[in-house]
Amino acid sequence: MKILITGGLGYIGSHTAIQFINAGHEILIVDNLSNSKLDVYKSIKSITKTDFSFEELDLCETKALISVFSSFLPDAVIHFAGLKAVGESVEDPIKYYDNNVGGSISLLKAMEHSGCHKILFSSSATVYGVPEYLPFDEQHRLDPINPYGQSKLMTELVLKDWAKSKETNQAIILRYFNPVGAHKSGFIGEDPLGVPNNLMPFISQVASGRLEELKVFGSDYDTRDGTGERDYIHVEDLSRAHLLSLNNINKIDSIDYFNVGTGSGYTVLECIKAYEKESGKNIKYTLAARRDGDVSISYASANKIKEFCDWSPEFDLEAMCKDSWNWECKTSI
Ligand code: NAD
Ligand code: UFG
Repeated sequence: MKILITGGLGYIGSHTAIQFINAGHEILIVDNLSNSKLDVYKSIKSITKTDFSFEELDLCETKALISVFSSFLPDAVIHFAGLKAVGESVEDPIKYYDNNVGGSISLLKAMEHSGCHKILFSSSATVYGVPEYLPFDEQHRLDPINPYGQSKLMTELVLKDWAKSKETNQAIILRYFNPVGAHKSGFIGEDPLGVPNNLMPFISQVASGRLEELKVFGSDYDTRDGTGERDYIHVEDLSRAHLLSLNNINKIDSIDYFNVGTGSGYTVLECIKAYEKESGKNIKYTLAARRDGDVSISYASANKIKEFCDWSPEFDLEAMCKDSWNWECKTSI
């Protein structure tokens, strides 16, 4: 198939692009480089030994996007492009609604124009908000607690109406839990700008000495050791979920929703321990106050996606830490 990947030079998009190329698909990446580097394009080509096209373009530029669609004529779109910093979304919500919701609407216009009817969308577990029960299943109430999460939910709603408006339209919404790890080559991985907000990249940078120490946000949660618990998923497993979902898209009527997580959680202290074991480094940390907006525990019921496309995670926390450390060693040199 011909697949257009938005945000394909970013963390999850780049790993997914590799899997689609390796599975024999023809891809085209559209990315405005707002949170990625052109080097990633070269790395994907060198890892896959395959040439493919890249367009540096903002999704909000509808006219130019239509022109890209008209010449590539994709069979399907995988839509990763979006802004994802929760704190920034609270400070500048309009930027998030404009880019994430506006960019998605522009994308749908270009799809309509070129007769493309299939889309996979990167949503997030953050659409559920504070858990009413656990594990989160796809029926859980949707009540995001920040503008980033709202922008994901709004896009889901737009896609729902779009999917139902024509018999040929099909949308798969993938709600990711906490993607971590890196490609086994160590040549692509998560490369956050500035000081990382997320746990795993922060731990990596403490391990390599780029950062002094980790602050553990909250040690009085109702978990095994009092620290926050999350469902970490290897980015390679998450990427493979896209491949299998798209292979099975014709099984759905118009739109369907799937959690992508492993179904089990690890606490912050368990992550630190696992990372120390894989890296052989001491991770210096202090216990600090809870971070605003954090929930105590979040993990997925991943039964629905398993049943839909026979997807199961292959990598455990050890592999996530090992691949993350391999990538950190290559980037921090
Ligand atoms: P990322 O920032 O690494 O990748 C996103 C890419 O999209 C970047 O390369 C960026 O330059 C590009 N982009 C952003 N806005 C654009 C626009 N208007 N036009 C063109 N390109 C644009 O993020 P990621 O971690 O790879 O996340 C991919 C998607 O998955 C995002 O939509 C994110 O919200 C979602 N998601 C991520 C996580 C996570 O923890 N990483 C969790 C749940 C959902
Ligand atoms: N944490 C620390 N110290 C840090 C960073 C994080 O103790 O320096 C803790 C958090 O308090 C939390 C856990 O580590 O208990 C995980 O935090 P992350 O920031 O790595 O991940 P979140 O679960 O907060 O959020 C992530 C993404 C969201 C996404 C969500 C669900 O950042 O965009 O997963 O997919 F919506």
